[in-house]
Order: sequence, then structure tokens, then C-alpha cells
Amino acid sequence: MAPKLQEVTVNGWVRTFRSNRFIALNDGSTINNIQCVVDFEKLEDGVLKKINTGSALKISGTLVESQGRGQNVEIQVSNIFVHGDADPETYPIQPKKHSLEFLREKAHLRIRTNTFSAVMRVRSALAFAIHQYFRQNDFHYFHAPIITGSDAEGAGEMFKVTTLDSKNPPLNEEGEVNYKEDFFGKETNLTVSGQLEAETYAMALGKVYTFGPTFRAENSNTSRHLAEFWMIEPEMAFYDLDANMDLAEDFIKYVINYVLENCNDDLQFLEKRLLDEEKSKPQAERSEMALIEKLKFICENNFKRVSYTEAIDILRNCKPNKKKKFQYTIDEWGADLQSEHERYLVEKHFKCPVILFDYPANIKAFYMRLNEDGKTVRAMDILFPGIGEIVGGSQREERLDVLKDKIAALGIDEKELWWYLDLRKFGSAVHSGFGLGFERLVLFATGMGNIRDVIPFPRTPQNAEF
Ligand code: 4AD
Ligand code: MG
Repeated sequence: MAPKLQEVTVNGWVRTFRSNRFIALNDGSTINNIQCVVDFEKLEDGVLKKINTGSALKISGTLVESQGRGQNVEIQVSNIFVHGDADPETYPIQPKKHSLEFLREKAHLRIRTNTFSAVMRVRSALAFAIHQYFRQNDFHYFHAPIITGSDAEGAGEMFKVTTLDSKNPPLNEEGEVNYKEDFFGKETNLTVSGQLEAETYAMALGKVYTFGPTFRAENSNTSRHLAEFWMIEPEMAFYDLDANMDLAEDFIKYVINYVLENCNDDLQFLEKRLLDEEKSKPQAERSEMALIEKLKFICENNFKRVSYTEAIDILRNCKPNKKKKFQYTIDEWGADLQSEHERYLVEKHFKCPVILFDYPANIKAFYMRLNEDGKTVRAMDILFPGIGEIVGGSQREERLDVLKDKIAALGIDEKELWWYLDLRKFGSAVHSGFGLGFERLVLFATGMGNIRDVIPFPRTPQNAEF
């Protein structure tokens, strides 16, 4: 039986135009183009000249079974309307290999390439899966404020928010800037984490999560850090650290499985891209698994749970440490772990995702629950291959006196945290939560190597173009 012919109209952008005959058109819905076959002798000259890579076209014609290889169907074109052309002399995205660095400078146009459209579709699918997971597990979506007076992580890496005249700010009697005259009547900054505010809602709604932008003015020019990034922070009343780790693992597996099931074409493309990229690397630096295999591995295997103390023993005695191959040698218990150590544990020692827990109190934030030993806290970090830390979380200190002591020891003014302390005065309970760096998740799921390539318009030191 002959297939039914179907009249169609499509809109999209030209990816390539070959032999004055084959237009590969893409509308962004998928990585696959639709091939449109034109009879150039029937086209007006003016139209033919405007069909270039990047032009926006409306094409009408008949959908037929394709004669050529590479696609099942194609459009036999009867009419072309040029929405807007793209001059090949000046349009930067030509059908050839562009470096990711070059494309970063054209971030407004790079989304028109296969790589970036695939990455951003996966990003969008992951965001949807995250909301779906929490919805299905009876969490409420909580919107944390973006402007805040608190420094949740106590790291002091914040962007100030002020309307004061920087050249001529009002001064107080001590000759310091008088923030009482500022917009909010106090010092404010962009939030580094919505956790403290989320805790207030967890202590009434039970299970909540944030999913919003967070800001850190840390001057780390690495492939894993952004100054503006998105974070997902679930916070649960009546959860201890074990329940917190169970949730984090289940959650990550769910969202990765979601993209495996729903983004197959894009993942296939990204897997090929990664294989290509790795061809130029020495064997030792290539990943052992292809992208899709790696994502399946995450979904199908348990994360390894290891205490900080066990991890330090492993690191102290490992070859690279003894041979002084680490930039920071691990000598004793209490050392903060650097990304090189985290990656050694995950990639060389355990060869699977690792959840490290029970860290020394003095390298972690003030709000984490103190263990009975008096020196470790109920913290947990999830470490991923190729990424390092992807999640940071903890059981929160719910005992008012213990929390007050920790705050005092760190020299934080109790008055600034009056509302946070109130949670421990009125109906306090065991509770826990964690933060997942969204871009680090997207990095992992897409196999990209630089965090600047998985967010539409990256903000990093010396860079806020667009
Ligand atoms: O470990 P962090 O600092 O934890 C918190 O902010 C807690 N308040 C979370 C919580 O318990 N609710 O950050 C959490 C995660 C990190 O594991 C990392 O994935 C990501 O946020 N992250 C960054 N991602 C990109 N660029 C940066 N500069 C990041 N800093 C942290
Ligand atoms: Mg952390």
C-alpha cells in the first residue's frame, strides 16, 4: 500500500543547504533535522540566495518517504517563505566545527548548534524531572528570598545588594558606611543558599524544596564553579542523616533515569560528541564508560557510604599521597578534602558515587548537628565521577543550647539569627536537608567538561556579558 501523502508546513532555521537542493531544517524540538528537498529551478533567484545556514524559513510541501539515507521522511517543497536570512559572511555559526571557547563568546547564538541545543534540552528535562520527583513524593515547592541579610554558609563569599552611592556613601559616627541609610536599612546580599529560610517552612509543611538561583562571589575560576548557579535544596522535618542520604540517592537516580528515558536522541548525540572529544586525549584521561552506560551505572548501583574518618585513612595511605602527587598532601585527620582527593576516592578507589559523612565540625557550617564524639558533625557530601562534590547536606542542629554554643564559638552575632534560633525554641525536631548544584548535575548528565557550557549565560569572574 502506498503511504499516504501529507501536506505540511514547518518553521525553523537552516542548519545546512547542500547542492542547491537539500535543506536541513531544525525548529529546536529535537536534535534531528527535517530534510526539505527543493527544485531550485522553480525557486525565485531572490529566495535561493537567502537560503543560508542560520536563515529562518517557513516551508510548505508534501511529506514523503525519503529516497536517500539518513532519514525516513522528507518534505518535497512546494513553497518557501523567508522569515529572515543570515549573511554567510557575518553569521558566526557555520556548519563546521567551532571550539566551545569560541562559542562561549557567542552565547546568544551557540544554542543554534547541535551540542548546545542537546545540552539545553537535557537541562530543561532535568528541571522538569526534579519538580516531578518532589511532587510525587509530597514535597511543597518553596521560594526562598534572593535578597537576604544572612550568610547561610558563613563563608562570606557574597555579592552586596545596595542602592548607596558608591562614590559618596553616608558614614556613621565611626566613619564606616552607614547601612541604616541603605534601601533595606541594613546590609544585604544575594543569597548563597535558601536553606535557612527553607528550614522555617519544613518545620510547618513537613517536606519542602527550593529550586532557584544562588550566588557566590568566590574567585574560583574552575570548570566546576559559577558565580550564579541554580540549586535544589530539599528540607525535611523528622528526617535524620540516614533518611537524608536515602532521599538524595533516590532523587538523583530518578532524575538521571528520567533523562535516559526521555532524552535518548540528545544523549546519543552527546555520547558521540564526548567520544570524539576524547580521541584527542591520552588513553589514561579518557572515561572508562561511554555517556549512556555511565548514566545507567549510576541508576543501577548503590552509592558507597563512607565516613570521613575512613576516607582519611584511605587517602593517607594511597599511592598518590605517599608519592606527593596530590597538590595538598593528606597528613592527618581534620584536613579539608580538595577536589583531587574527592576524585581519587570516586574514580580510582571506589569507582562509583560516594557519600562521605560525619565530617570534622570545624570544616563544616555552623548549622550541622554535632555528634556524640563532640568533634564530628552529621554532614554528608555526595561525590560523583568526573565532577567531585555534587551534593552537600546535613542533619541540622535542633538543640537550642548546642546551636547557641556553636554560633558563639564562631563569633557570629546571635541577634542576626534570632528567627533561626526561634525554630529551636518552638516545636523543634530532628530535621535534615541537602543542596544539589543543578549545573553540576547537568554537567554529569551531558558529559560536558566545563560548567560554563551547561548554563545559558554563565557568570564567572570577569565575565557577565549578555
Ligand atoms: O555544599 P554547599 O555549599 O551547601 C549548601 O549551600 C547547603 N546550604 C545546602 C543544603 O544543605 N541545603 O552547596 C551545595 C551544592 C554543592 O554540592 C555544589 O554542587 C553546588 O551546590 N555548588 C556550586 N555549583 C556551581 N558553582 C558554585 N560556585 C557552587 N558552589 C556550590
Ligand atoms: Mg559543600
